[in-house]
Amino acid sequence: MKVLTVVGARPNFMKVAPIIRAINRHNEMAGRSSASRFEPAADAVKHVLVHTGQHYDASMSGAFFTDLQLPTPDVWLGVGSGSHAAQTAEIMRRFEEVLTIERPDAVVVVGDVNSTMACAVVTAKIAFDAAGSRPLVAHVEAGLRSFDRSMPEEVNRVLTDHVSDLLFVTEASGLRNLRNEGIPDDAVHFVGNTMIDSLLACREKAEASTVLERLGLRTGAHGHDATGAISDYALLTLHRPSNVDNPEAFLNILDGLNELGTRCPIVFPVHPRTQRRIKEFGFTLGTHGRGIVLIEPLGYLDFVCVMAHARLVVTDSGGIQEETTCLGIPCVTVRANTERPSTVEHGTNIVAGTTAPQIGAAIRRQLARPPGGTMPEKWDGHAATRLVDVLVRACADRRAAVQTNLPAEVQTA
Ligand code: UD1
Repeated sequence: MKVLTVVGARPNFMKVAPIIRAINRHNEMAGRSSASRFEPAADAVKHVLVHTGQHYDASMSGAFFTDLQLPTPDVWLGVGSGSHAAQTAEIMRRFEEVLTIERPDAVVVVGDVNSTMACAVVTAKIAFDAAGSRPLVAHVEAGLRSFDRSMPEEVNRVLTDHVSDLLFVTEASGLRNLRNEGIPDDAVHFVGNTMIDSLLACREKAEASTVLERLGLRTGAHGHDATGAISDYALLTLHRPSNVDNPEAFLNILDGLNELGTRCPIVFPVHPRTQRRIKEFGFTLGTHGRGIVLIEPLGYLDFVCVMAHARLVVTDSGGIQEETTCLGIPCVTVRANTERPSTVEHGTNIVAGTTAPQIGAAIRRQLARPPGGTMPEKWDGHAATRLVDVLVRACADRRAAVQTNLPAEVQTA
């Protein structure tokens, strides 16, 4: 059977890496139980990795392939940036050509970026033959809802879920949301969080990173037997259009960080969109939110290391809310809502809002909070294994059903 997985943007890579590893493990097991050493096992998976090219910079894409040991993509669509409509349309046009050539049994899409929605919709509407046969659509990270349709990601989540055949859910809220939207229970599989699989698998390697020395945040030795003391610092990430595309909104957030900036340095790896806005608005961050240290976007292992040792993380990212929960690091989310409520209910996250007083108050609360938090159900490092088991079974069942419906003379043994 053939499975095609799509990646496009930075937050996709860590969600996909464990799935590819689980497929490789599945193939090893299938190979061991195969009758012949020379024939591929009946349920071995041929995997095809497609990169849409939504993110294309080395710092936004290439570095993650190295850090996560992802294979080189089999297909590169090279769509690049554009308006939502232009980017989505270009992904759809080019992806349809790939599907027609590859004809996989299933297409796996992850998360909520434009590449996710574009490829899910193409797969749901393609027809390989007059009977309308097409691959299964599998959505990883299904069911998350912010209930805020002004977020492009929310539109992508809803559309992707409603054209998917297999919906892989990361947290309990996803089960409730999908049921409320009328998605049949038997399409929904609560497997856990593959991004957390990546985090747990890479924790040790990330500890060996020298990023803290390079940023002047640790003195002395580094790596596993580090003896140098780590300074108190906070970590900031901002890239949501609603936070950075409008100068007043952006300034408000920076004002909310002023008090924190007098207490410790705030390390700010700057996303390309945010970098452009800072230049365009003529912000000199030294005058707003004193203590902000602007750096280039970090690779995965360096970022995990900086996050794991931060006193506090301030972010508008979705994934970082989950990663800080897993690491037990206090997180202040500068948004009005979250699609990941388990990070607030079980984890270390506070959804602060976006005004300066709200952000300042949430930071003070988080700095006073005792360390810890509990891990949401099934965030145990084995989500991808559970997911691939379901995926392989679904593909095999689909093949068997197609065989049964064929006229007797064309059925294969
Ligand atoms: C996208 C996702 C968002 C995710 C984020 C992580 C959508 C709708 N949004 O937002 O959910 O949290 O990725 O980063 O899919 N750019 C570069 N180099 C790159 C990529 C982008 O310079 O490698 C610049 C481009 O000029 C582009 C801008 O960054 O216009 C934004 O990129 P885009 O892919 O449109 O959306 P993101 O804001 O990155």
